[in-house]
Amino acid sequence: MGVRITYADSVYDLEDGESVLDGLLRHNLDIPYSCKSGTCQSCLMQAVSGDIPAAAQIDLKPGYKKQNLFLACQCTPEQDMDVQLPGTAIDVPAVIHSMEMLNHNVVRLVLMPQDEFTCEPGQYISLINGKGVTRSYSIANDPGKEDHIDLHIRFIKNGKMSLWLENQATRGDMLTLRGPAGNCFYTSDDGYDYPIVLAGTGTGLAPLYGILNRALECGHKGRIYLYHGALQAEDLYYIDELQALSEQHDLFDYVPCVLNGQDNNFYKAGNIEDIVMKALPKNKAQTRLFLCGAPDMVNSLKKKAFLSGLASKHIYADAFLPSKT
Ligand SMILES: Cc1cc2nc3c(=O)[nH]c(=O)nc-3n(C[C@H](O)[C@H](O)[C@H](O)COP(=O)(O)OP(=O)(O)OC[C@H]3O[C@@H](n4cnc5c(N)ncnc54)[C@H](O)[C@@H]3O)c2cc1C
Ligand code: FES
Repeated sequence: MGVRITYADSVYDLEDGESVLDGLLRHNLDIPYSCKSGTCQSCLMQAVSGDIPAAAQIDLKPGYKKQNLFLACQCTPEQDMDVQLPGTAIDVPAVIHSMEMLNHNVVRLVLMPQDEFTCEPGQYISLINGKGVTRSYSIANDPGKEDHIDLHIRFIKNGKMSLWLENQATRGDMLTLRGPAGNCFYTSDDGYDYPIVLAGTGTGLAPLYGILNRALECGHKGRIYLYHGALQAEDLYYIDELQALSEQHDLFDYVPCVLNGQDNNFYKAGNIEDIVMKALPKNKAQTRLFLCGAPDMVNSLKKKAFLSGLASKHIYADAFLPSKT
């Protein structure tokens, strides 16, 4: 007999090699999820009984592991399990403070957490709206210092969260936050003088902007380069803010890159991967590379940078994986 999952007082069979998430979805249950690849943490569940496979808890916070939380999309159990949704103990309610368009399709969503919420700028959270849609978004500021959370969200055509934000969400709406998660953040453990290369496409700028500001505030002494990639010039945003930072800080260079453009005084035309690879600092063994945004770009640059001599432990990457809905 195969493995059985007890959920909400009913018992469901899993097919051979099927994850808890896929099994419950196959039985038409409404379980939150997004990436289905162990990244976004939207599918967190809690084991009431039964062994949790190690793969279902990789990269979870120690506090989550202690509470027997696991990623349902990565959980292919060998024995029966009794599971439930995690409940509200790990959630933080947050109110929409404001929404402001940063360009033609990116909104800055400012949230006021209603409870203590700490994170490193650059990490990401799961955002759950009133309809139960759960998606990951990266944190563009330092909520510990500023008492609000800044997210940059690109509207995706017919996307569930996008449509809700574009057409329904208003100031004062209550949302739920879960997290933070992710290892893409600034650290000064190894001193303050290594070169930093930040490269992102689209709203991949959000975590990079948080990391940049943290590094500058910490008095980072190495060069910092920020490459922001866009398809067209109108997809760029935070241009004034980034130009102002590069004028204030001699060590910081802002390099907008536009794929479908012509070189000019403001941006470089071409593929962000080629532009970054050509300009990697000479001191590769010390360079820290942060990559965020489109998964193809993130994975490809990660590989190219490693093959060119960057240490894999110095490459931090958050691929913005789309939902598998
Ligand atoms: C770790 C992490 C961090 C993230 N941080 C951010 C962030 O800071 N800002 C941000 O805007 N997004 C971010 N994302 C992406 C975000 O979680 C959602 O996937 C995105 O906002 C779309 O959600 P939606 O509900 O509007 O669309 P969905 O309902 O999820 O998607 C609708 C359809 O469009 C497809 N789709 C979704 N996104 C894309 C895409 N980029 N390209 C092509 N097809 C797509 C889906 O597969 C689906 O078929 C992040 C994702 C991850 C995993
Ligand atoms: S981690 Fe499971 S759906 Fe994203």
